[in-house]
Amino acid sequence: MTIRLSPRLDAIPRYQPGLTTAEVLARYGLDAAIRLASNESPFPPLPQVEQVLREGLAGLNRYPDGAARALRRALADRHGVGPDQVAVGNGSCELILLAGQALMDPGTTVVHPDPSFQIYPHVAAAAGAQAVAVPLAPDGGLDLDAMAAACDERTRLVLICNPNNPTGVHRPADAIERFLDLVPEDLAVLVDEAYFDFVSAPDAGRVMVMARTRPNLLVTRTFSKAYGLCGLRVGYGVGSPGWVQALDRVRQPFNTGTLAQAAALESLRHPSAVHARVREAVAERGRVAAALAATGVATLPSEANFLLLDPGILGGPTADPGGDVPAVHEQLLRLGVIVRDGAALGCPGRIRVTIGAPHENDAFLAAMAAVREATSPSNPGRAARAESH
Ligand SMILES: Cc1ncc(COP(=O)(O)O)c(C=O)c1O
Repeated sequence: MTIRLSPRLDAIPRYQPGLTTAEVLARYGLDAAIRLASNESPFPPLPQVEQVLREGLAGLNRYPDGAARALRRALADRHGVGPDQVAVGNGSCELILLAGQALMDPGTTVVHPDPSFQIYPHVAAAAGAQAVAVPLAPDGGLDLDAMAAACDERTRLVLICNPNNPTGVHRPADAIERFLDLVPEDLAVLVDEAYFDFVSAPDAGRVMVMARTRPNLLVTRTFSKAYGLCGLRVGYGVGSPGWVQALDRVRQPFNTGTLAQAAALESLRHPSAVHARVREAVAERGRVAAALAATGVATLPSEANFLLLDPGILGGPTADPGGDVPAVHEQLLRLGVIVRDGAALGCPGRIRVTIGAPHENDAFLAAMAAVREATSPSNPGRAARAESH
């Protein structure tokens, strides 16, 4: 005997989180591990944010401001829009799911890139709608022409991930604008800019400017990555009042907590401290990519805080480059370096590594070198020795 469930549940893909640090420690009998698996910030929240959080504890017997007025106002000022053009969510992920609730019905479609953020197929399935997954272009970026071609009269929502997770490849604002010009003006388009802060391209930010005036566009961003607040859950979207009202209609009345709002608000007051951290992450991204390239490990050009790499280290250029990636992944875990096997993210044969603090990145590079050494065809005995450590 069980409860009467919606048949929709069967269609919802299970979100596959990475292994937790505790799981890796227990599984491999380790004392410590570094976590480069979930595109988190290696930095704790800013000291001023920690102070605000401490001060906010005493007020937690009261409900938060359900409309997050102060945060909306600050975000509106930052982006040159009215507060009625800002939606605030329990992470930007909530806003993406709310878009599904507000827009989708059975018989309608969501067009999204694939592979991309794992939650996108969920948006359609949870509403009994259909997901139309459009393969990426060969360079690992969105195939925006194919996505436009996949839209028809049943399409209610297009999800664009820029830069794309898990590839890290970024499409310029001109390409997004061309896409917006191709699709009907009343078709909702959500551009997920979760990794916006790490984009070095000169036109970064222009899609957000488009969201001021294009009625069908919502741009989402998050405090989870550059601001180091993913544990608190706060993200936002900027778009037309119509978009924002639709999201507000379906959200729970108090969807973001008091501390989440206060931490986000305080973070916005310290842009130079946040930028310094982002600059370090971007510099480290370049350093790690160059160090990997020097050992023959290719990475896709990333504008995010992670790299997707092709280990290709197990047999030289003639071997199947992705053939033994699960083994490489397993050995990295064994060495206490937690990364994601691309297979779980729709990119078999690849590994996704988050850019961490310099010492963490060094540990990752050292672990890659150790795996390479252990699995070198000229050292057949070493693999077994490395396994036993
Ligand atoms: C592309 C993309 N969008 C959205 C999110 C969700 O972020 P948040 O923590 O704001 O819910 C993530 C998280 O990793 C992501 O990769």
